[in-house]
Amino acid sequence: MDYPEIAKPEPGRMKVRPNLDAPALSSGFDWQQIENELRDKTGEINLPYLAIDRHATSPRRDKPALIWEGRNGKSECYSFGDLALASNRFANVLSGFGIKKGDRVFTFLERVPELYAVVFGTLKLGAIIGPLFADFGPEPVRDRLRDAGARVLVTSPTLKAHIADILAELPELEHIIIVDRSRQYARGEKEILFHQAMDSASPDFTGSYPGADDYAIMHYTSGTTGKPKGAVHIHRAAIQHYATGKWVLDFHENDIYWCTADPGWVTGTSYGMFAPWTNGITQVVYEGGFRASAWYSIIEKYRVTVWYTAPTAIRMLMKAGEVAAAHHDLGSLRHICSVGEPLNPEAVMWGLKVFQQPIHDNWWQTETGAILIANYAFMPVRPGSMGRPIPGVRAAILGDDYTEVPPGTEGHLAIRPGWPSMFQTYWHSPDLYQSRFKNGWYITGDRARTDGDGYFWFVGRTDDVINTAGHLVGPFEVESALIEHPAVAEAGVIGKPDPIAMEVVKAFVSLKEGYQPTPELRRELVNLTRRKLAAAVAPREIEFLPSLPKTRSGKIMRRLLKAKELGLPLGDTSTLEEF
Ligand code: PRX
Repeated sequence: MDYPEIAKPEPGRMKVRPNLDAPALSSGFDWQQIENELRDKTGEINLPYLAIDRHATSPRRDKPALIWEGRNGKSECYSFGDLALASNRFANVLSGFGIKKGDRVFTFLERVPELYAVVFGTLKLGAIIGPLFADFGPEPVRDRLRDAGARVLVTSPTLKAHIADILAELPELEHIIIVDRSRQYARGEKEILFHQAMDSASPDFTGSYPGADDYAIMHYTSGTTGKPKGAVHIHRAAIQHYATGKWVLDFHENDIYWCTADPGWVTGTSYGMFAPWTNGITQVVYEGGFRASAWYSIIEKYRVTVWYTAPTAIRMLMKAGEVAAAHHDLGSLRHICSVGEPLNPEAVMWGLKVFQQPIHDNWWQTETGAILIANYAFMPVRPGSMGRPIPGVRAAILGDDYTEVPPGTEGHLAIRPGWPSMFQTYWHSPDLYQSRFKNGWYITGDRARTDGDGYFWFVGRTDDVINTAGHLVGPFEVESALIEHPAVAEAGVIGKPDPIAMEVVKAFVSLKEGYQPTPELRRELVNLTRRKLAAAVAPREIEFLPSLPKTRSGKIMRRLLKAKELGLPLGDTSTLEEF
């Protein structure tokens, strides 16, 4: 069913005037303009200066930067001035360990306030920060720390216990800093207590800031083959975080902003730290997980005005029902955006009914570092569309020969390189990085089409990567974990369509001689992957097959497993060895 375009309210009835308007979206644009807007007399273009320190020496010094609510319902508030001092201290802690520019510092932490001091302290020093998702099991943590050659890990007592077994496999890891909020933890050998180290560090930072082209942050992202790769971003990305905060999230000085993404993923850093704070905006961080009533309470209690969330969360709210929303005063909300997976038109319409405004979908990736395509506050929303490219970015749909195809034709979604937050490399994988560029375009790995008015519409991915609740899962990682079990001969993993999470992970498994496909074994395999990888990544379903379809060279053909699952024609099977 086609949904009609949602017109914008008359300008006089809008709560604020949107920062971006139609002429600005389509007029000529040069990123230098934004860089000039941001550059003050210091000339600094780097994340910690633009997001924290420049506010700490301005009238915004005492403005709340972070309003944090813990799982226990208690809140804490930190101003820009507080974050400047705390990140200075952490930079000094690191430099006391001999950490220097370019070294890798990783966090494996819950969403606690200390995380923000660690991220910005690391960035001040010019070291590279690698934030990891707290739900990871030991293997993803080991793989990422090892690949990056991390020298420092900042973690918590609980999370440290989860990964104790893999620490011996990380010879380059020199320091483990423990954030112990309970102050009960008995420090182990080679461990440092965060609060003690911070107390004895100076709150003055006398080093020099990193440059715009220095590496700043790395996020690991999954591909079809091999282990996840570290996409590396530079400090210049701040320019685009700032610009998209203004244009897409439509930040205004007195906004209270809430980004629901975890800082272990790129949305949680680019839009849970850099975009709001380069704009000097107050943000709320909620430590707890998803629960409809808890989420609505956060909006109500803190009078959230701008909300950035994800389609799965919206579908879960829809499932909880309109009555759950009606128990709360959500009238503070002025602008709602979503990212990470396709936002179905029904969800946009539901927003209109429950929040009296549409949800604004936008598109980007770990590699792009910031939003590239969006529905804007000023623009009518076409439900189901990702919107139009931001100023200064050219996006196109290409055919298989990597030349542009006309509107209405499906093809590769591609971006002309040169946007400020573009990734600079995959750590240790320069060839893979180069392979993402064809004929002068960055090839995103997504398929899409445009309509005659320049709106982009998502079609699907071109690879086997699974998008479950907005988390990208590489099938290879799950398959590798499964075949470590003594009963498993082969494993093939696909994404199975799901009404809430978009896709769930489904594994097909064949067993070695002498093993039986029992419900107990199925449970054991699910638990194994949950423990080793993460609950979000573990297969929701496991199906036992006598053998899996393979090419003559022995590669499992996931495409056929997916076709079988969906009841679709098997397509070209000429390279098939057996099934
Ligand atoms: O396939 C697209 C999907 O998520 C991928 C990027 O995921 P990740 O690198 O984890 O980045 C997360 C930050 C957004 C994309 O290649 N995706 C993202 N946004 C949308 C989307 N699919 C459809 N509609 C979107 N708005």
